[in-house]
Amino acid sequence: MKRVPSGIVPILAVDRRLAKPLQNQIYDGYRAAIVERRLRSGQRVPSTRVLATELGVSRIPVLNAYAQLLAEGYLESRVGSGTSVSRSLPDQAAFSKPARANLISSKSRHRPISKSATNLQEFGVVPWALRPGPFGVGQIAFDTFPSPIWSRLVVRHSRSFGRSDLHYGDPLGLRALREAIANYLGTARGVRCDAQQIMIVSGSQQALEISTRVLLDPGSRVWIEEPGYALARHVLAMHGCQMVPVPVDEEGLKVSAGIKLYRYARAAAVTPSHQYPLGVTMSASRRFQLLEWAEASGSWIFEDDYDSEYRYESRPIAALQGLDSHSRVIYIGTFSKVLFPALRLGYLVIPPDLVDNFIAVRRAMDLGPPGFLQSVLVDFIREGHFSRHIRRMRTLYAERRNVLVKCLEQEFGSSVQVRGGEAGMHLVVTFTKKIQDRELAQNAAGQNLWVLALSPCYLVEPKPTGFVLGFGSTPVEEIPIAVRSLRQLLARSI
Ligand SMILES: Cc1ncc(COP(=O)(O)O)c(C=O)c1O
Repeated sequence: MKRVPSGIVPILAVDRRLAKPLQNQIYDGYRAAIVERRLRSGQRVPSTRVLATELGVSRIPVLNAYAQLLAEGYLESRVGSGTSVSRSLPDQAAFSKPARANLISSKSRHRPISKSATNLQEFGVVPWALRPGPFGVGQIAFDTFPSPIWSRLVVRHSRSFGRSDLHYGDPLGLRALREAIANYLGTARGVRCDAQQIMIVSGSQQALEISTRVLLDPGSRVWIEEPGYALARHVLAMHGCQMVPVPVDEEGLKVSAGIKLYRYARAAAVTPSHQYPLGVTMSASRRFQLLEWAEASGSWIFEDDYDSEYRYESRPIAALQGLDSHSRVIYIGTFSKVLFPALRLGYLVIPPDLVDNFIAVRRAMDLGPPGFLQSVLVDFIREGHFSRHIRRMRTLYAERRNVLVKCLEQEFGSSVQVRGGEAGMHLVVTFTKKIQDRELAQNAAGQNLWVLALSPCYLVEPKPTGFVLGFGSTPVEEIPIAVRSLRQLLARSI
């Protein structure tokens, strides 16, 4: 006989000491759960035997309560598929207020939240982060990811899933993945490390969060790039750090300006391979100045190497970490651009003497990364799919970038200046006129064009205006249409 899986036992408050009969308590509990939509149409409920055992009562009151609920049409029972919440109930929203609303309208007046959460309030969900669309920054070529290969590896690992996969893993992450990353970084990025220095994290964002917790204190001053990456600023702000915006020019972060502004900053957060958002590459002399400053002032450097694999006119530039002979650099890498952002896997390369501190903080945060997708990724790298994918994507993104630049020049002529497209998956456009970039970006989103306003990337007035345009996710044939729509939108502004 086919076994029917039992449903999850809902939270039911059953108390033998009450005068109310047990069967009524069970009936009321279920009815309320259905009306308040904690149990949904079609959802399976546990068998009477399972529920009786869970509640520690005999089966009789459970049988009676179920019989009542079946008779009233809250539950239905089908041969071979057990008992479930009735599918023919009217839209439950129509006869109940969601429980959530009731909670919020409760009488308690004080609902304090932290200062940092209040400050971050306006940076909630952004539509372009959730849906692919033309110009979406941080969007990869979703149309060409080798999903069949990835799925095959996922299936393979699901099949071989066993006892050893059930317990907590190493807080640094899977050894095999760390070894594969150490090999890759040594060869492709000139990073000097071994697997014991690598910590697997859920993307650059968590890497920065952990580094901040280990190395900075509330009130620590930190050099940040001006303009820079808002999400990095948010982590620092959340931790109570004081930001020191240091201007970026054609050679990257102006170290001398940073020294003038605040020499003894505790850290500098930089994107040397492909500055975000301007796209410049930090020159060799600036790299040495930065490393010298860090050693002389006892400061840390957070190197965010988020999209360095893709360079179009030259070979990828080696990472700053490889030049650092004083172990001042915390190197941060991510699979969000080279593979896909939903993977939420990235890594830190930690100076050897700090590894134990990072582990201690990591354990306090989340005990370590989930194991399953790490194993899948190990095979993806070992079997050569990773390097093949990067090679293919480099060609594809170069093509998308070329078409975008050509279309921008055709549509906007001399009123546009395009910068920063030598690497990565985005470029920056500025216009001869100042534009209301925030409002225009919002209007553009209404037409599914996910342009990002440039001015919010700056902290210091006057803020230059323009847009950051991603080209990763838009096939070449769709780029001219998107650029034309953008020009129409800007027609009266430039
Ligand atoms: C500057 C910068 N760093 C890092 C990332 C990637 O972050 P994560 O690895 O958390 O997905 C991005 C994504 O767009 C970025 O622009």
